[in-house]
Amino acid sequence: MPTLRRHRSTRLAIDGGTPVRRTPLPYRRLFGKNELKMVSRVFQDSWRKKTDFGYQGVFEEAYTRGFCAFQGGGFADAVCSGTAALYVCLRTLDIEPGSDIVVPPVTDPGGVAPAVLVGLKPVVADAAPGSFNMGPAEFKAALTSNTKAVIVAHIGGIPTDAGSIVKIASSRGIKVIEDCSQSHGALVGGRRIGTFGDMAFFSTMFSKNHATGGCGGVVYTRHARYRDRIRSIADRGKPLAYSDFDLKNPNEYLFPSLNLNQDELSCAIGISTLSRLPSMIARRRRIVEALDRALRPALSVRPLTVPKGMSPSPFFYTLTVDTESISVSKTEFAEALAAEGIGVNHDYRNIVAEWPWFRRYLPAGTATPNATALRASSFNVLFNERFGRGEVDDIAAAIFKVSAAFARS
Ligand SMILES: Cc1ncc(COP(=O)(O)O)c(C=O)c1O
Repeated sequence: MPTLRRHRSTRLAIDGGTPVRRTPLPYRRLFGKNELKMVSRVFQDSWRKKTDFGYQGVFEEAYTRGFCAFQGGGFADAVCSGTAALYVCLRTLDIEPGSDIVVPPVTDPGGVAPAVLVGLKPVVADAAPGSFNMGPAEFKAALTSNTKAVIVAHIGGIPTDAGSIVKIASSRGIKVIEDCSQSHGALVGGRRIGTFGDMAFFSTMFSKNHATGGCGGVVYTRHARYRDRIRSIADRGKPLAYSDFDLKNPNEYLFPSLNLNQDELSCAIGISTLSRLPSMIARRRRIVEALDRALRPALSVRPLTVPKGMSPSPFFYTLTVDTESISVSKTEFAEALAAEGIGVNHDYRNIVAEWPWFRRYLPAGTATPNATALRASSFNVLFNERFGRGEVDDIAAAIFKVSAAFARS
């Protein structure tokens, strides 16, 4: 039991004591020998074919096929970032400029900025109480007579109740785009996220649960009707669906768009990391379960409640702090924990309604009190799938040590 482990020092590391964790936490090393092998295959393939590799080649074909198999069918296009993937989703759905789009309370800037870039008016929905995710009630509260779309983000590995949101949205003709960037492979009621909405997008940049390299993204949909438009929007408006399209003739392009292609090297890395995604999610779940068990007796911290029927793809591990039971603020608590050698983000700044540069696009007075309250009372423990029993024990021991030091007498 980590709680019973004795440490040489009960003096907090932040006060000069010996930290619980004295060796660095394991480095994730997502990109290893298999990924290197896949990259060298791209080179070998091009040498054999006597053509330099580019994009929309055999590796993207294999990667997106594998991605769809993982999702249980559908169509996928590999693009250069999650932000780019959202841009493609928005333009594919052809939502009339000037329309309102409901956006999530908590996300990365890339998960909302493209909405403004395509001329939509963002309306932020609050999070469900005790969650970073928008709930169905909060979605409803954000609707206007001009709402034409919603971006539903699954944050921190915990899925949103996408099914309920889709039900409300489809009865009003509102398009649903899922942001799966922080929850690849999570399930709601046994169904993969990304398969609920009209379209979905995934960031596959290097720190995500599923990554294709430094930067990357995937546009995904179950609906075959979007396929050709997705491909054209992601590649400067080329009519890629026409078999007689002459690549060298821009006269035939359909409309202006950006070049958002993913390259063959990244797709090759993606083939390899995708094959390990199910086991990686399972490992991350086991770590979270072990942390939940170890922290059950803790009075000052509590993990987020995962709603029934949801299977997370854990990205970070959020703990709420009961500041009544300790004599310091949540921030001081988390800083003391970090000094014990534990990876912590104590100030999750991804609350959309707080960003000055984004607020100018929002209705005056926009606030998301549930999201802000959760951020104010919680911190995120950072971990990866290489953590084992030792790391779980150290995280728990550090939390018990800090809790004891700050316990109100
Ligand atoms: C929830 C969310 N949405 C969107 C993005 C944007 O993705 P990218 O950084 O690949 O553009 C990210 C990641 O950074 C994210 O975490």
